[in-house]
Amino acid sequence: MMNRMAFASDDVIISVRDLHVSYEDPLGDPLPVLRGVSFDAHHGETLVIMGGSGCGKSTLLNALIGEIQADSGSIFYRLPALGEIDLASATRERRDDLRRRIGILFQSGALFSSMTVAENIALPLREHSQVDQAVIDIMVAIKLQQVHMLEHRDKYPSQLSGGQKKRAGLARATALDPAVLFYDEPNAGLDPVTSAAIDTLMVDMSKKLGVTSVVVSHEMDSAFRIADKMILLDQGRVLRSGARDDFERIRRADFDALSNDEDRRIHQFLTGEARGPLMDNEGMSEYEKLLVGIALPPRE
Ligand SMILES: Nc1ncnc2c1ncn2[C@@H]1O[C@H](COP(=O)(O)OP(=O)(O)OP(=O)(O)O)[C@@H](O)[C@H]1O
Ligand SMILES: [Mg+2]
Repeated sequence: MMNRMAFASDDVIISVRDLHVSYEDPLGDPLPVLRGVSFDAHHGETLVIMGGSGCGKSTLLNALIGEIQADSGSIFYRLPALGEIDLASATRERRDDLRRRIGILFQSGALFSSMTVAENIALPLREHSQVDQAVIDIMVAIKLQQVHMLEHRDKYPSQLSGGQKKRAGLARATALDPAVLFYDEPNAGLDPVTSAAIDTLMVDMSKKLGVTSVVVSHEMDSAFRIADKMILLDQGRVLRSGARDDFERIRRADFDALSNDEDRRIHQFLTGEARGPLMDNEGMSEYEKLLVGIALPPRE
C-alpha cells in the first residue's frame, strides 16, 4: 500500500504522476481531457493552475479531491496525522479521513441557500466533530472574523454580494482547519478591489494556518499575487511548471524577443493576446471536428 518512491522530497504533500482523465462525448467516444499530468505540491505553498477555458482545470481539481476517477496515473497525499494515501486504492474510510482534512471553495461559492452564513459554516463542524453548540458558535465566530464577515452572520446567501459569498465560502472551506485548500476560480466575477481583498485573505489563510493551497485561476493579476509556483495546462498536458518568477519573466518579456515557440505560447497566454500559436486546433476531438464541420462551410 505504501509507496515510498511516490514522493520526490520530504515536504511533498500531494504527488500527481502521469494522470489521465477522460469523459465520454455524446457519440460515446472517449474524450481525453487530462493526458499525462504530473506535479508535486509542497507543504505550505500556493500552487496556481492556469490554462484556457475547457482545458481541464476543474477536472483536475475534481480528480484531486476524489470526485472523479482517473483512467490511469496516480495521486498520492501525505498529510500529518494521516500518513500516505493513494487515492486510487484507498478505502472509503481513508477517503473520508482525507476529505475532512481538505477544504474546497467551489467556482460558485456553493453555500446552502436555506441556511444563514453562520449555519453554513457550522455545518461541517457539526458533521465532522463532536463538540457542542456553544463551542461551535465560538469556532464559527472566529472563522467569520478571519474573513471579515462577522456582521453578516445571520444573513442568507441571497442577501450577500458576490464577494461576501466568496468570503463566507472561504470561512466554510477552512472551518475544519484543513491541511490542503482547493480553490476553483476564487476571483471570478469580482471587481478588482474585492478580488484583491480575496487574494489577501487567501494568502493570510495559508500563512496563518500553514495550509497548502491549490488554486485554479484565470485572473492573471491575482494568480501572480498569490502564487509561489505555477502550472500552465495546454491540451491536457503541463505546458510549463515552475516558480512564479519564471513565469513573471516570460510575462514581462517582449513577444518578439522570445526565441522559442513554447515561451511564446506561454507569453501569449499570460498576457491574453489573441495573436500567437495557442489557437491551432490540433487537440480537437472527433466530436469537436464534427461540430465544426456542421458549423462552418467546407473549405474551398
Ligand atoms: N461531466 C462531463 N462530461 C463530459 N465532458 C465534460 C464533463 N465535464 C467537463 N467536460 C469537458 O471536459 C473539458 C474540460 O472541462 P473543465 O471543466 O475541466 O475545464 P476548465 O479548464 O475548468 O474550464 P473553465 O476555465 O471554463 O472553467 C471540457 O471540454 C468540458 O466540456
Ligand atoms: Mg473550470
